[in-house]
Amino acid sequence: MAKKEKSVVKPWGGRFTEPTDAFVEAFTASVSFDQRLYAQDIAGSIAHARMLAKIGVLTSEEYEAIVEGLQAIKDEIERGDFTWRVDLEDVHMNIEANLTQRIGDAGKKLHTGRSRNDQVATDVRLYLREEIDAISKQLNRLQTNLVDLAEQHFDTIMPGFTHLQTAQPVTFGHHLMAWFEMLKRDSGRLSDCRGRVNVMPLGSAALAGTSYPIDRNFTRDLLGFNGIAENSLDAVSDRDFAIEFVFVCSLIMTHLSRFSEELILWSSAQFDFIELGDSFCTGSSIMPQKKNPDVPELVRGKTGRINGHLVALLTLMKGQPLAYNKDNQEDKEPLFDTIDNVKGSLRAFADMVPTLKVKTANMRAAALKGFATATDLADYLVRKGVAFRDAHEVVGKAVKKGIKDGKDLAQLTLAELQKFSSVIEQDVFDVLTLEGSVAARKHIGGTAPKQVQQAIARARQWLSGK
Ligand code: ARG
Repeated sequence: MAKKEKSVVKPWGGRFTEPTDAFVEAFTASVSFDQRLYAQDIAGSIAHARMLAKIGVLTSEEYEAIVEGLQAIKDEIERGDFTWRVDLEDVHMNIEANLTQRIGDAGKKLHTGRSRNDQVATDVRLYLREEIDAISKQLNRLQTNLVDLAEQHFDTIMPGFTHLQTAQPVTFGHHLMAWFEMLKRDSGRLSDCRGRVNVMPLGSAALAGTSYPIDRNFTRDLLGFNGIAENSLDAVSDRDFAIEFVFVCSLIMTHLSRFSEELILWSSAQFDFIELGDSFCTGSSIMPQKKNPDVPELVRGKTGRINGHLVALLTLMKGQPLAYNKDNQEDKEPLFDTIDNVKGSLRAFADMVPTLKVKTANMRAAALKGFATATDLADYLVRKGVAFRDAHEVVGKAVKKGIKDGKDLAQLTLAELQKFSSVIEQDVFDVLTLEGSVAARKHIGGTAPKQVQQAIARARQWLSGK
């Protein structure tokens, strides 16, 4: 008898004679993690109830009782007084069962014309829509801080690298604006993704739609969706929007990870280009001299975990027949973890960037080493009528001499340089300087300080529209 009573509390218990195995109950439950969807679940239920009242399925008294009950539940959850029950499986059934307990029979009518299948898809989309907005804000904050720092360093010279070998001098502002550009694409991808998230599955019911004369346009407007999922089978089974979102996040993390790698390298004694704020580093319990770049290292590490979530979601979907399958319950933990970690990483970076101490003298000294202006010498020779391949050869020889004598190109005398090519004159020293080198790259997208200032102006303009 006791057994039977237990099975009856399940909203779907009617068909069953035996209670759920206690282990299976806990194993299949999602309430421990999907309770974070409570606000969206309640908002979705209120909109659904209002639509049911509009089409005459609920009386206005029933509708009001439902709204009042759901609001009381929301308050109770937010106060931390709500009792979540594992035997009620998930957030949806916990709230519905509690509503019925509070308001009686009207609560039992809420689920008319709806299924948990369209309900959960709706909840996740509502939730993600908000989180995308929060992530976009953090991203834009980091971008603003990068632009601010770039402005201070629009003409600070550092070595630019390819293959991590000194290549050509660049401005630090230009380097910072490269990160800005990556994040700008991420911001665009987030907003594209938001468009596909913001489509309403509600009304698809379990899989085939419902025989009630529902008004989906009305519910869509109430919930602020910009579209309605147009095929009920697809609507309840589709998680593309979640996969796409996690992909966008993987790429954000990949960018932050590359950024991290540079910050880590640059704060090493070997580069010594920057120092991170103390509040973003930790020391070593054994080596007193150490100041470790923990935040960038951790963000670099978290990137692997987010990439893992992307693979988890893709794999979760790949074998599923239409329509809804319980597999989809597994979408939430990777999704939530992605959101938490991306938000945290962006926040940490946005806070950290203004604390960067930039060691401009070290950057300059490094740029003076490694023949960073060799290409400028080649370009100079070309301007004087030498073919580029010949110029390349000439400069190669000059570099060889520099290496032998332990001197950079600008430290060779005019007479020494003229031995490699008779077209070389005194004005060669204008291009061999770091300033001359960066200033010459003055087209759009180039590293010249003037261009960096223009890139910053465009960035500010773009940010002001965010
Ligand atoms: N907790 C479930 C999920 O997250 C809700 C939908 C369950 N639907 C079902 N028919 N079992 O996917």
